[in-house]
Amino acid sequence: MISLKNWQGIAAVIGVDWGDSGKGRLVDDLAVRAHIIARYNGGANTGHTVKNKYGKFAFHIMPSGIFNKKATCLVGRGVAIDLESLIEDEFEQLKKAKVSWKNLKVDEQASLVMPWHKMRDGIREELRGGGKIGTTRRGVGPAYADRVERSGLRVKDLYDGKFAEKLKEELEFQNKIYDLTLPYKEVLAKYTNYAKIIKPLVARTILILKEAQKARKNILFEGAQAYFLDIDFGTYPCVTSSNTGVLGIWRSFEIYPTDINHVIGITKAYMTRVGKGPMPTKIEGSQREVIIEKGGEIGTTSGRIRDPGWLDLVLVKAACGANKVNRLALTKIDILSGFKNIKICVGYKINGKAVDYVSGDAAYLSWCKPVYETLPGWQEDISQIRDFKKLPKNAQNYIRKIEKFVGVPIEFISVGPQRGEVIYV
Ligand code: GDP
Ligand code: IMO
Ligand code: MG
Repeated sequence: MISLKNWQGIAAVIGVDWGDSGKGRLVDDLAVRAHIIARYNGGANTGHTVKNKYGKFAFHIMPSGIFNKKATCLVGRGVAIDLESLIEDEFEQLKKAKVSWKNLKVDEQASLVMPWHKMRDGIREELRGGGKIGTTRRGVGPAYADRVERSGLRVKDLYDGKFAEKLKEELEFQNKIYDLTLPYKEVLAKYTNYAKIIKPLVARTILILKEAQKARKNILFEGAQAYFLDIDFGTYPCVTSSNTGVLGIWRSFEIYPTDINHVIGITKAYMTRVGKGPMPTKIEGSQREVIIEKGGEIGTTSGRIRDPGWLDLVLVKAACGANKVNRLALTKIDILSGFKNIKICVGYKINGKAVDYVSGDAAYLSWCKPVYETLPGWQEDISQIRDFKKLPKNAQNYIRKIEKFVGVPIEFISVGPQRGEVIYV
């Protein structure tokens, strides 16, 4: 297989953990070869950080490949589109950096996240009491719920001449049911303005994508969240509301999973989880503080602390199997320099008995106790290394151990947050 540095065909970046693994940076690195970069799931709950020669960016809806001027960036119908985030935050970030987003296309059939969705997200969380999900309160769950209920507004509704009417009906309904006081005229004015701004970007993204596929262009899918936050296969109910794996790509673009040449699973060299939900390998004590501090493990979207854990190979292997991942990307291994020993989870036990079943269920995972192997760490700063063979032997062994257990080659190892701070294997 050709190196990921020279990838061609169709590639997809999919988190095989609990998110925040560096998908934004990986997409920014790989996007230099892409003709199309496409976001297929999630909404403004996503926080993808990109650091490159243009500056530092935190993207929520915007595909992280927007810096490639020759490429077209697509936001598919499976994305819950928050125009407030896209226009008032993300366009502004790009404007400040003098980066154009003219190459962005937003699907006309994508659902809109409206102000009531964000309010409902907050109200529901407050009322959940002890059973909170710890959502980002970006209205993503309620917007998807309305789509499934066939009542939500879509991008195309902004332009069919009946938007004012549809908005009034929907807003009055939401105010009544959820006891809200959203002012119709203000919301109408705001969304009429947003509609004007994004009109040139609205498109039938499936057609663009299918044409690119036919012409054998390089297509890069950017997943949001990660497999264990998937609505169907994650640790329900502590999950997000979309399909985060290959299924999400099909739901947004009708690209069949077997058409994807490079299914790239991405995880950090350790793991983090933000919000609620079980994490068998959660780290307590001083090592927790070291990782949070050194790794800057504070949420891009929510500003909350992410709980660190040792790398859980049981989960990584399960996610890779389910999505037919054929290449792995390992990020933030530079953060592990300085540890005397590093633990890695190679199995689970429930009530002392080994189990090999990974269930998309929060309660089940909370019963699982990790079985660890302890590997010797390395002390050297590795952030300047660009050649696998120059890594300390113990770092090489750690990487090889992961590959061997999961059965998928690690081909992208990042040792810093900037574009290019990468070892291609
Ligand atoms: P995403 O949601 O998967 O795109 O990940 P986030 O952007 O939420 O979180 C990843 C964080 O790690 C960001 O702050 C990145 O700038 C940073 N990062 C990514 N890769 C590396 C790496 O290899 N080393 C270090 N030190 N930081 C990294
Ligand atoms: P990226 O794309 C990490 C988590 C939330 C919460 C649960 C449900 O940056 O990796 P939601 O707002 O989606 O209803 O919240 O999912 N969550 C994420 N955790 N990274 C993300 O995105 C996340 N998006 C949602 O913390 O536990
Ligand atoms: Mg993130």
